[in-house]
Amino acid sequence: MAKLWAGVTAGNTEKLADDFNSSIHFDCRFWKQDITGSIAHAQMLAKQNIITDDDAEKIIAGLSEIYDDISSGKLQFDMSAEDIHMFIEATLTERIGDVGKKLHTARSRNDQVALDMRLYLRDEIDEIIPLIKDFITALTDKADEYKTAICPGYTHLQRAQPITFGHHLMAYSYMLLRDIDRLNDTRKRMNTSPIGCCALAGTTYDTDRFFEAEKLGFDSVIENSLDGVSDRDFVVEMLSGLSILMMHLSRLSEEIILWSSWEFKFIELSDAYTTGSSIMPQKRNPDMAELIRGKSGRVYGELMAILTTLKGLPLAYNKDMQEDKEGIFDAIDTVTMCLKVGTGMIKTMKAKPENMLNAAKRGFINATDLADYLVKKGLPFRSAYKISGSIVAYCIENNITLEDVDLAKYREYSELFEDDLYEEISLETCTQKRTSFGGAATDSVIKQIESVRKLLNKQ
Ligand code: ARG
Repeated sequence: MAKLWAGVTAGNTEKLADDFNSSIHFDCRFWKQDITGSIAHAQMLAKQNIITDDDAEKIIAGLSEIYDDISSGKLQFDMSAEDIHMFIEATLTERIGDVGKKLHTARSRNDQVALDMRLYLRDEIDEIIPLIKDFITALTDKADEYKTAICPGYTHLQRAQPITFGHHLMAYSYMLLRDIDRLNDTRKRMNTSPIGCCALAGTTYDTDRFFEAEKLGFDSVIENSLDGVSDRDFVVEMLSGLSILMMHLSRLSEEIILWSSWEFKFIELSDAYTTGSSIMPQKRNPDMAELIRGKSGRVYGELMAILTTLKGLPLAYNKDMQEDKEGIFDAIDTVTMCLKVGTGMIKTMKAKPENMLNAAKRGFINATDLADYLVKKGLPFRSAYKISGSIVAYCIENNITLEDVDLAKYREYSELFEDDLYEEISLETCTQKRTSFGGAATDSVIKQIESVRKLLNKQ
């Protein structure tokens, strides 16, 4: 494709250099946004009498036709073009003649690309949020299904205190709700218009940036033209939001991998979301969870890449900034796939409450409750903790559980022990009495589920 600046510079660029410079093979992704932005620009130019209404009509009709032809597949991108902006402008001029050349008045590719990226990423956030909601819904429905299932809660991956499986799953629902918040917040800051900043310094034409911003659904207009064309904070912010989201998905995946192992067997993944081994017939590998865990590294890498690219750039536009695209596009694709696959995996997984309960029975996870029993009878917590610890040591020595120790033995440690202690340290009591706000009991989990469902409907 002929270069728009041909005739200005003396020599031709090397084919290799052209290929290196070109971004159309990835920025063609936002062709819709580019055309939408150009239509608003033409409208603004006409309103301000910078071009005639007649010219604007021709330009808008031409752009709309290009839009339809790309949509239908009739028009293919010319991969020899430098970028999507050049391709669309050149195609327009090819189709409607010289009037097409008026479109680029009072703008530059510098504000144009900043505009397109904001419009495109804004749309992508609007696509990703419903997928996060689907994921949360799957988690919350599972939590509802297993709100009474007792399982060990861990710290340091050591059995710590009994909780319900529903409570564990709801923790992830809340993490993902924060991810939605973060993306919405990023969207707010992203939703401010750079168009009209032009190359770097604004323009001598009597433009109306506010009109153009409003046409494109922006909340406000960037107030400094250098900032408008140099700022890629919104890319960094979105990538960091996506990285945090991936970190959450990765932690959950790690647990799913552990839980589905024979060592735990707390859950079973559906055949639809596991793979077999080519030589070991017994295997059901949690590949989907492993891939989600693995892909988190890739999204973090993209965040690091853009931060590093931007860190040394002087104002205003530098071609380095073209590197803002592939990373975030890949992150969007990765996150989208992970959310879709992850939702299916969660929806179809089955828990094994009997195995969870068996695990909960070993490991003295009611030792805190034994101490609390003595505290309720008047002993200071530190003394109660010590007595409870000695009894645990006795059980370990004799390979028995706290429930196996008889009352006479208990009373050797403290006269405060009475028959009601067994009820108090039963796993059922230990779990279901944890009704403090946000606690692990079924009643509390029910409240969490209701609250999350309400939030999802509101958002
Ligand atoms: N393809 C370029 C990018 O993505 C568009 C902006 C080009 N601006 C320029 N002055 N060369 O950043």
